[in-house]
Amino acid sequence: MYNIALIPGDGIGPEIIREGKKVIEAASNQYGLKINWTEYPFGTEHYLKTGELLPDSALKEIEDMDAIYFGAVGDPRVKPGILEKEILLKARFYFDQYINLRPIRLYKGVPCPLKDKNPEDINFYVVRENTEDFYVGIGGRFKARTNQDHLEVLRKLYKAKIQVDFNLEPEEEMAYQIGLVSRPGTQRVIKYAFELAQKKNLKRVTSVDKANVLTDIYGLWRDIFEEVSTQYPDIKTEFNFVDAITMYFIQKPEWFKVVVTPNMFGDIITDLAAMIQGGLGIAAGGNINPEGVSMFEPIHGSAPDIARKNISNPTATILAGAMMLEFLGEIEVAKDIEDAVEKVLSEGKVRTQDLSGKSSTEQVGDEIVKKLPKA
Ligand code: NAD
Ligand code: IPM
Ligand code: MN
Repeated sequence: MYNIALIPGDGIGPEIIREGKKVIEAASNQYGLKINWTEYPFGTEHYLKTGELLPDSALKEIEDMDAIYFGAVGDPRVKPGILEKEILLKARFYFDQYINLRPIRLYKGVPCPLKDKNPEDINFYVVRENTEDFYVGIGGRFKARTNQDHLEVLRKLYKAKIQVDFNLEPEEEMAYQIGLVSRPGTQRVIKYAFELAQKKNLKRVTSVDKANVLTDIYGLWRDIFEEVSTQYPDIKTEFNFVDAITMYFIQKPEWFKVVVTPNMFGDIITDLAAMIQGGLGIAAGGNINPEGVSMFEPIHGSAPDIARKNISNPTATILAGAMMLEFLGEIEVAKDIEDAVEKVLSEGKVRTQDLSGKSSTEQVGDEIVKKLPKA
């Protein structure tokens, strides 16, 4: 039996999580596996009603569970950043989920926007650092005659030669945000990427950065990549600048096997990578702490533009469920789910509007359940 925390969240979150839960239960049942779900209401409605985002009491409770299954948060009624930072990022940081693993795979039958690219050409992993970089939340915004402390912090941290009058006028308002790369934080994620390559018998690890401009933080990132790579002499390595890798993802996706990237670039390039595998509706991810509580979710957001219409694609969430089961050691159950997804996608009869179909969210979930092999 597994204890799973369920956070459906906002927008399409509840409808995709409903299908994910349905498929996980159906697949697990065949192996006599029981899932004990604890559902939490965190998200916009709960916040607007109670002012509560993700309380420490819930985090403490979840510490004893096996994993978190997460939909999405974000709602146009709430200023950007509140729910995203205080719910999603809070969980990633609290549980020190330092790896964000995002497999990129074009399934058979899924329309690919790249001309002449087939399933065998698009099949790689992005390992995104998940607790550092510009996500550490060190920053400040200050204007006329306020927050002089922030300016001091900025000067110290960046040794900035900023010549400004402390009595700023409102039109001189300023803001800063610090990106942080640490040796242990970088070592552990890069090591994970190499271990993954080794385990899956993949022969190349690509490192992403912008070391030609942000020379301090990504200079350190590069040094550590080089150091770690010496422990894996059989695996080829390369550096790509982040701007160039967006081009290569389109031009030669077949080149990539394992891509390891700092947090923010990882966020950006995985939405791009999702598109070459057929869109956000299919792209799954896991926020992983190999020794702690991990959290599995689609990489897309709450899609407020299509919420509550029962037309969103639950496939990414269902595949995230398979990743969760695999992570828990239920390899066969996970494989059954992925195989069923593959069948439904390759048949192409039941699919949602993002894949040019007419089926509902629920019909896709039901069809995947129908295609589960009998254990
Ligand atoms: P989004 O990923 O929600 O949507 C981008 C586009 O993709 C939209 O047109 C949407 O309709 C479509 N789309 C996304 N998922 C889909 C699915 N399963 N099926 C079909 N179409 C799908 O990104 P956005 O619009 O930039 O952000 C909306 C909100 O979600 C914001 O508040 C943002 O902060 C938040 N967000 C949350 C997460 C998360 O909780 N993990 C991730 C990304 C964005
Ligand atoms: C993602 C999302 C999040 C991120 C946001 C919502 C905090 O875009 O999971 O990709 O930037 O990591
Ligand atoms: Mn993102």
